[in-house]
Amino acid sequence: MKENDVKNLPIGVIDSGVGGLSVLKWLQEKMPHEKFVYIGDTARCPYGNAHTEDEIYGFSAQMVMTLGKKGIKALVVACNTISMLGKDSMRFGYDFPIITMSKGVNLLLSTSKNKQIGIFATPFTISKELHRKEILEADPEAKVTTVACPDFVPLIEGEKFDSLKLRVTIGKYCQELRKNNCDTLLLACTHYPFIRKEIEREMQGALTVVDPAEQTAMDVIEALGKDLLKDTGEGKSIICGTSNVSKIRRLAEKMLDLKKCEFMEIKLVDL
Ligand code: DGL
Repeated sequence: MKENDVKNLPIGVIDSGVGGLSVLKWLQEKMPHEKFVYIGDTARCPYGNAHTEDEIYGFSAQMVMTLGKKGIKALVVACNTISMLGKDSMRFGYDFPIITMSKGVNLLLSTSKNKQIGIFATPFTISKELHRKEILEADPEAKVTTVACPDFVPLIEGEKFDSLKLRVTIGKYCQELRKNNCDTLLLACTHYPFIRKEIEREMQGALTVVDPAEQTAMDVIEALGKDLLKDTGEGKSIICGTSNVSKIRRLAEKMLDLKKCEFMEIKLVDL
């Protein structure tokens, strides 16, 4: 394929569900001329609570191959849980650039004054300990409090934003941060920006919340380089789900300008 043809291909974006829409927001903002094709595997979400690594790998393979068949010029893994598998495991024979979620280490260390850093993520992501490892490599004096938050994704996918259950759950997970005097919190699951305000309200200004999505979008720009990055034309996103597209549209409204989005249900390729 000629370079210009590749440049005109869309950028693929994957997540287990609606979480990656919080990354798509930054991708659209930083790359206004690009076309994006998003897949959220809403039918099998959550990935990060009870699925094995092999299952997560297989589900991800189906999403990547579905996008690969359509033709994309880069893949953004807008899911921390899938990102834990490493970008090389997402190749499946394709040679486009693959960008996984940033761990936000520089931002965390420059934000925290007392070096007490909290991480909220899915049980799978927390079990991998990769955020702690990277933070301590950059600053061995930092103290990292990791909190597995299995209840958040079902509440967000279930649109339970005003529920008592969400308030109680946030209170429960924030307890660990308070106990360890954390002044900075990383949202290491792309679903959590949907409840960022609620977390900030619970912590009443006692900590700064860091979302690594903006840095991830910057990483995408760097990976594309000027040869693949579009600087003309109208941006657009096709947002696909494996189930419940009307829910995806409702949640997308919280993050995106829907005028630039189209929604559809998709069947993933079989392995
Ligand atoms: N949005 C995902 C993440 O960033 C995963 C949620 C899940 O499926 O458990 O980790």
